[in-house]
Amino acid sequence: MPGIDGNRTPASFGNGQALPRLGYVNPDFRNPSGTSLTRDERLRLLGDAHRLGMPLIEDGAYSELRYDGPGEPALIALDAEARGGIENSLVLYCGTFSKTVVSGLRIGWVAGPRAVIQKLFLIKQAADLHSSALNQMVLHDVVSNGFATRLEPIRALYKGRRDALLAALERHMPAGVSWTKPRGGMFVWVDLPAHLDGAELLARSIAEIRVAFVPGHAFFSDGTGRNTLRLNFSLSDSDQIETGIARLGALLKTLV
Ligand SMILES: Cc1ncc(COP(=O)(O)O)c(C=O)c1O
Repeated sequence: MPGIDGNRTPASFGNGQALPRLGYVNPDFRNPSGTSLTRDERLRLLGDAHRLGMPLIEDGAYSELRYDGPGEPALIALDAEARGGIENSLVLYCGTFSKTVVSGLRIGWVAGPRAVIQKLFLIKQAADLHSSALNQMVLHDVVSNGFATRLEPIRALYKGRRDALLAALERHMPAGVSWTKPRGGMFVWVDLPAHLDGAELLARSIAEIRVAFVPGHAFFSDGTGRNTLRLNFSLSDSDQIETGIARLGALLKTLV
């Protein structure tokens, strides 16, 4: 079985179409849609990765921010279980404390086969001579004194805001607008009727009703997705969310 750093893949599918050499996936409550991979999708992706000898970078930035249900195991956990340990996995798991403890320290972690971690260590050393040791010590102190007890209040806060956003969308959005119902994370993805443009809506929204969001087309590499938006629910409190969505819904009712 090829290891994560020893894959030897053919260059194409045989029909001239280039094979993917590396996969990147944000499986839980992903940015920007808030949606997650099912267990079947995870297993299919891992099967494809091994068939192609394609390493996967698993970005678990939002995985700990789960508000409902038991959730699915990380890709790296499924892969290590199926392949007899992490050394045989094709997945490199990237975690961050930015979404759960503090964003300003910019400290994260990577889990994967030892040989890859050793190379990453050298690459990072060459690139930035390590993340700040003081920041790492502060973070270590904070998380070793109870990461789980820090997570619970954050989850409760964001769950309340997620619920407030979904309820406000139900109350205020006109027919023809739809949105995701994420079970975690920070984002809800909105589909507008096809004739509307999220970037134009943002310009009007800021000027007329002082409500901001991210137009969705920035997340597409092929120029599509102009009628989509990403809403964030982690920053504003429930009253602000209700006010903002009521205003946005009223503006949209004049356009649909
Ligand atoms: C998908 C995704 N991955 C990773 C990160 C980043 O985190 P960090 O602050 O650790 O660089 C973000 C933050 O916005 C994100 O949305």
